[in-house]
Amino acid sequence: MRHLINILDFSIKEVEELIDLADDIIANPEKYNEACKHKILATLFFEPSTRTRLSFESAMLSLGGTTLGFSSASSSSASKGESVADTIAVVSGYSDILVMRHPKEGAPFVARKHANVPIINAGDGGHHHPTQTLTDMLTIKHEKGRLNNLTIGLCGDLKYGRTVHSLIEAMSRYTGIKFCLISPKELALPGFVKKNCLEKEGVEYQEFTDLEEAMPQLDILYMTRIQQERFIDRDEYIRLKDCYILTKEKMELAKDDMCVLHPLPRVNEISVDVDDDKRACYFKQTLYGKYMRMALILKLLSLKDEKEKDDGKEIVLSETKCSNPHCITTIEQEIKPLTYVDDHGTTRCAYCDKMIK
Ligand code: CP
Repeated sequence: MRHLINILDFSIKEVEELIDLADDIIANPEKYNEACKHKILATLFFEPSTRTRLSFESAMLSLGGTTLGFSSASSSSASKGESVADTIAVVSGYSDILVMRHPKEGAPFVARKHANVPIINAGDGGHHHPTQTLTDMLTIKHEKGRLNNLTIGLCGDLKYGRTVHSLIEAMSRYTGIKFCLISPKELALPGFVKKNCLEKEGVEYQEFTDLEEAMPQLDILYMTRIQQERFIDRDEYIRLKDCYILTKEKMELAKDDMCVLHPLPRVNEISVDVDDDKRACYFKQTLYGKYMRMALILKLLSLKDEKEKDDGKEIVLSETKCSNPHCITTIEQEIKPLTYVDDHGTTRCAYCDKMIK
C-alpha cells in the first residue's frame, strides 16, 4: 500500500503520471463518473481548511464515491484526548482512503504506522503539504507549459509556510530551476530545507528581503500568507504580518507572462485589484486542486496492493526526545522518539525532520 506523506513519496515519473491523469479527467470528466463507486473517503481535519477538505470531498463525489469525516478537532474525540494512532486505527475500518490535516508536524507519519488504508497528508503544521504541491505543479504545467527552466519567486513566510517547503522539494528535481527566496530575515527558509534540498540537489537560489528587486526576473511569483497560527510570539506576528503586499503597481515590474500563484487563503498579501490581472492564477489554481485530488485518489486506490516505498532512511529508536514544540511527539507522550541521520551526518526527528539537540 502507498501513502502520500511527503511529496518525495512519489517519483518524478509518478508525479507526471498524476498530471497526465488529471489532464485526462479535465478533458473527459464523464469517463470517471463511477470510477470510485462504493468507495469511501474519510477526511479527518484536526485543523481548519476550506480548499483542501472541500476539494477532496468534491473530488470523491465526482468520482462516484462517498465521504465522511470531521472538520475540526473539537468535533472529534481528539477533544477527549484520543490519540492520532487510535483515531486512524478506527477510521481505517470505516473507509477505503483517508485524508488528514493536523496542526502538529509528523502526525501523518504516526497515522501511516496505524493505517490499513492509504493515508494522504493534507498538511501537518509547518512541515509538508504535498497535495497543494501537486496542485501547484498541475497549475504551473498548464499556465507555463513546462516544469523546468523556471525562475520561481517564493514570497512571505518561508519559515512556517508548509506549501513552500513541499514545492521546493518537488521542483528541485527538475532542471533549470532557480528560486528567489523573498522574506524578512525572521521568516527565512529553514536551514535544513536549504541544506538538504537546495544545496543537496545543486539548485540555484538567491535571497531577497525586497519583493520589487526580485520581481523582474520571475516566471512565477508564489505568494504566501504569514502563518499567524504558527507564531509563538504574537508581537512578532503583528510586526511582520504586512511585510509584503502585492499591488497593481508592483505588478508593473513583472514579466508580461509571469504567473502569480498563492495556495490561499490570502489575508491581505495580494491586493484585490490584482485579481483582474491576466497573470493572477490563484483562483484557477484552486480548481486544478480538485482535478489533481481526483487523480491522486484514483492512483492511491490503484496502488493498494503495492509495497510501501522505502525512502532509504534508517530510522532508529532514540533516547532523546524532539525539542521542536510543533512536533506531534510533544503532545502524544506514548509516541516513541525515532530518529535518522541525514546526508550531512545530522541526527533528525523521524516525525518532524527537525535537528535533535
Ligand atoms: N491551500 C490550502 O491548504 O487551503 P485551505 O487551508 O483552505 O485548505
